[in-house]
Amino acid sequence: MRLVHRKTYGPLPTSKFELVNDSGEVLGFAQIRHRPSRSHDLPPEAVNHLYYQIEGPYRGRGYGKALMGLALAEAERMGLGKLLIAVDDDNPASRHIIESHGAVWVAKFPREGGADTHLFEVTFVKRVSHEARSPHHPGPPTRV
Ligand SMILES: CC(C)(COP(=O)(O)OP(=O)(O)OC[C@H]1O[C@@H](n2cnc3c(N)ncnc32)[C@H](O)[C@@H]1OP(=O)(O)O)[C@@H](O)C(=O)NCCC(=O)NCCS
Repeated sequence: MRLVHRKTYGPLPTSKFELVNDSGEVLGFAQIRHRPSRSHDLPPEAVNHLYYQIEGPYRGRGYGKALMGLALAEAERMGLGKLLIAVDDDNPASRHIIESHGAVWVAKFPREGGADTHLFEVTFVKRVSHEARSPHHPGPPTRV
């Protein structure tokens, strides 16, 4: 299973990645906005970077959690200092996935004509390299 970059488009811009299994089947996708923006039905301050989705038949098998992990790694690689994710009140599975990846609750907003939306944040912090302390154990960046 891997994340495949399909396209980067639009003024923000947005990058679309597909989650593909070893047989080449597309299990889902993630869209990462390089700069946060809001959906039309959210208040102006409810900006976020990420939307992700698993195709119906593949849900409930751990792919959503895996996709979130790969998308966060991609966002960090893209150089985002932090990533904002919006999740609706009536989507407890997604909230569970987001929180299990260390995202921190930021705020709650009303969604026009729908459930309230919660905004979560993941901060990417560059750890002081182990290499500075020991040339034999270089340390990768860490997410908190
Ligand atoms: C949300 C979505 C991506 C989840 O994908 P998925 O592949 O079914 O998710 P996973 O199987 O990896 O994990 C689901 C997790 O939620 C948990 N979960 C399921 N229902 C839950 C509930 N009602 N309350 C709390 N947790 C729940 C599962 O136990 C599992 O966690 P675990 O692995 O720790 O046991 C998928 O349902 C989807 O694409 N939905 C439509 C689009 C969408 O809502 N995208 C998210 C926008 S924020």
